[in-house]
Amino acid sequence: MTAAVDVPRLAADGGLVLRGWELGDLPLVEEASGDGYIPLITTVPPVYSQAEGEAFVRRQWRRTATGVGYPFVIERVADARPLGTVGLWLREVGEGRATLGYWLAGSARGRGVAADALRAVSRWALEELRIPRLQLYVEPWNTASRRTAERAGFRSEGVLRGWQQVGAERRDMIMYARRSTDEVPGDGS
Ligand SMILES: CC(C)(COP(=O)(O)OP(=O)(O)OC[C@H]1O[C@@H](n2cnc3c(N)ncnc32)[C@H](O)[C@@H]1OP(=O)(O)O)[C@@H](O)C(=O)NCCC(=O)NCCS
Repeated sequence: MTAAVDVPRLAADGGLVLRGWELGDLPLVEEASGDGYIPLITTVPPVYSQAEGEAFVRRQWRRTATGVGYPFVIERVADARPLGTVGLWLREVGEGRATLGYWLAGSARGRGVAADALRAVSRWALEELRIPRLQLYVEPWNTASRRTAERAGFRSEGVLRGWQQVGAERRDMIMYARRSTDEVPGDGS
């Protein structure tokens, strides 16, 4: 993909809205920088500064400008607080596949927010963008992420051994996928 894309506003269950990144989201980037895992699997800076935070937000804008994908911020509508992110990445969209990833600030976890956000983006990608297959990769130990994927209608397809460099190690990943033809109970699609 090289054509620019626009990140839409999508409503999600749980009083959430998904939208594009803004410079006002820097406190979210700062909290994520302090997480032990997020900087290992994303381009969130491991050591936060305002310059690094702004560079992260500008990277997200560049991804939409170059059509790499849709980086969404998950915002709580009640107080307009940014809680985390879901990204929909289009590198393989020509082959009918897109990949998702997500994280939440530590203070926003424990309430199923990621599953609500993932379900909304997935429904939009399958129904509006008409992408036939969505996939995501989760480390076997990551129970919260595995549950998130399952609650959003993704099914485990097996372990990819040594699939990805995470920090200093090659790590196994479970491949999860959801197809446009899958029935997902309670999804309304
Ligand atoms: C993955 C992540 C987004 C999930 O956040 P969340 O929406 O707050 O998820 P929750 O804490 O509500 O947990 C989701 C489910 O997992 C369960 N769970 C969470 N941690 C668990 C644990 N250690 N053991 C067992 N179950 C656990 C919860 O009980 C919940 O179960 P339910 O669906 O039956 O209610 C968040 O943990 C995160 O940002 N992690 C760091 C980044 C990351 O791992 N991203 C994903 C990479 S693939």
